[in-house]
Amino acid sequence: MADLSCTIAGIPSPNPFWVASAPPSDKYYNVDRAFRAGWGGVVWKTLGIDPPIVNVTSRYGSVNLNGQKMMGLNNNELITDRPLEVNLAEIKQIKEEWPDRAVVVSLMVPCNQNDWEYILRKVEDTGADGVELNFGCPHGMSERGMGAAVGQVPDYVEMVTRWVKENSDLPCIVKLTPNITDIRYPARAAKAGGADGVSLINTISSIVSVDLDSMSPEPSIEGKGTHGGYCGPAVKPIALNMTSEIARDPETLGLPISAIGGISNWKDAAEFMSMGAEGVQVCTAIMHYGFRIVEDMIEGLNHWMDEKGYEKIEDFRGMAAKNVVDWQYLRRLASGDQNE
Ligand SMILES: Cc1cc2nc3c(=O)[nH]c(=O)nc-3n(C[C@H](O)[C@H](O)[C@H](O)COP(=O)(O)O)c2cc1C
Repeated sequence: MADLSCTIAGIPSPNPFWVASAPPSDKYYNVDRAFRAGWGGVVWKTLGIDPPIVNVTSRYGSVNLNGQKMMGLNNNELITDRPLEVNLAEIKQIKEEWPDRAVVVSLMVPCNQNDWEYILRKVEDTGADGVELNFGCPHGMSERGMGAAVGQVPDYVEMVTRWVKENSDLPCIVKLTPNITDIRYPARAAKAGGADGVSLINTISSIVSVDLDSMSPEPSIEGKGTHGGYCGPAVKPIALNMTSEIARDPETLGLPISAIGGISNWKDAAEFMSMGAEGVQVCTAIMHYGFRIVEDMIEGLNHWMDEKGYEKIEDFRGMAAKNVVDWQYLRRLASGDQNE
């Protein structure tokens, strides 16, 4: 049997499979179910400063393909809508009951140092293993100067990451937004700010469809809609490319990556790790199929590694990233002319 234990951004985990910050990691009840099923870690649903935000009721849209559900999921859910103290008490309890699992807390607060210091003290008191800075949400919070509004400006990414690292010893993962032209810039900024790793991708700005009778974008509330965040199998190629960009960039070489985006099975996960990720996170596939998909993920990865003779994840991590080359080199290979 291969050894699936690993360290992701300095945080030990019994396996590389983490639940991403989203509805499956929003409360004690769900995280306990996740750990019972076998998930190695969770990133708790993003916390903010009270008063809690109010979510809209109709917040999901699906893109199907050839009648099959579903190629992609769109949501305009915001961060947690539960009080901070309730979440913190549950995080403390879950970490006490599951000491061998990774419990990372996702955070999104306004861009001022006092708020960051305040929430970091609170998270430290829970015994959590690390924090993930949510610089990724493309909807709702970005209009309030948070989420992707920070992630799209490398200077802000670096500044807030530095505040966090100066004010806490907790490992810090910076979650990046894909709603940007070149993912390497915010990744470099996270590294410059002292991040222990990056996670990507958060969701992609999207409108899933239009109701042609009411002429409203979907999902709609009283005839009105807004853009949401796209995720699920459809976004995997985008996430895989962005992962490879960071893994190959000389300026971020070796920066730990927790990969996210359309991962549904062991093979998807192995692909991201072969592209350089230390571990992976999953949201949509859990919402679609349930927590128990992790059983197949663990078993499948184990069998494949045994078959290939890989004893640990490091034995194959990053191998495919070495074979991603800039386009002009492929042309040279095809023409056989190394001097072209
Ligand atoms: C309903 C929903 C809510 C989400 N909420 C958060 C959140 O609070 N914080 C966050 O960092 N990402 C959030 N995400 C994004 C996911 O963590 C993840 O980055 C994204 O869905 C891509 O992974 P997937 O393709 O496995 O779903 C949310 C996604 C969905 C679908």
